[in-house]
Amino acid sequence: MSALSGAELIPGPRPPGADDPILDVREVTLRFGGLTSLDAVSLRQERGSVLAVIGPNGAGKTSLFNCLTGAYRPQRGSARFRPGDTGVELVGRSPHRVARLGIARTFQNIRLFPDMSALENVQVGVEMRARAGALRGLVPTRAVRREEREVVDRCHHLLDFVGLRERAGWPAGSLPYGEQRRLEIARALGTRPSLLLLDEPAAGATAAERRDLVALIRAIAAQGVSVLLIEHDIRLVAAVARSIVVLNFGRVIATGPPDQVRSDPAVIEAYLGDTDDARGDTEDERSGS
Ligand SMILES: Nc1ncnc2c1ncn2[C@@H]1O[C@H](COP(=O)(O)OP(=O)(O)OP(=O)(O)O)[C@@H](O)[C@H]1O
Ligand SMILES: [Mg+2]
Repeated sequence: MSALSGAELIPGPRPPGADDPILDVREVTLRFGGLTSLDAVSLRQERGSVLAVIGPNGAGKTSLFNCLTGAYRPQRGSARFRPGDTGVELVGRSPHRVARLGIARTFQNIRLFPDMSALENVQVGVEMRARAGALRGLVPTRAVRREEREVVDRCHHLLDFVGLRERAGWPAGSLPYGEQRRLEIARALGTRPSLLLLDEPAAGATAAERRDLVALIRAIAAQGVSVLLIEHDIRLVAAVARSIVVLNFGRVIATGPPDQVRSDPAVIEAYLGDTDDARGDTEDERSGS
């Protein structure tokens, strides 16, 4: 390692208001045969911010998450995590290695262990981080038992944080849909992420659950976690996101603060036939998948 690259490992103090990204995605292109799912997608997210990704069905939103988390490998482009510090390239990393960097996600199609309790589902996330502790658990010393108690306490705290305190012992699969989505968020938070990717956390939620979700996302961001949020409900997005990226047919067609994006002619055009959704006048009137 050269002296220069060593020096780069120690980030200097940043003046207030300085550009401090957590994520820098450049020209990511993903193809499936003849279909271009992402076409030179670029975006930048400020550390500690909520950035929303919106767009019609099939626009490439989930594909983008999959490229960032190692599930898909794009043919072109880069995605640098914490580019201002040491900077780590996400493209080409396995999902496991991405998770260990401090990036967690939830899935559009819920992926909980339905027969395990809500508490045990969160424990999976927490213990992923405490793997060394699990190995030491082969010799159950007092310290190890204390560590186990701390894990359980933390899981209860996370359930409380997402509003599921009373559900700890319930099988995850028996919870109402909206609560399962919140449980996924608790599990993702268990890994202590600095970047949290939420894929349509409000899908299927009631109006009251949407309000709770807005409060929850704000609370997560208030703890310094950067949130990248895929969501169709533009009102929800406008309530939590500083900035919005709009995808359509795999391309970024607009980027900016909610008010600016909402009145952007290209965005209104992309939602034509579904213009109510773009204005946020209706509940999730979505066709397709
Ligand atoms: N594994 C795959 N194999 C083939 N095509 C895929 C695959 N994953 C995504 N695609 C295609 O890429 C395009 C973008 O899909 P993606 O799921 O990213 O859209 P989306 O914006 O998340 O849509 P939705 O709002 O419906 O969730 C679609 O045409 C989809 O069929
Ligand atoms: Mg999707």
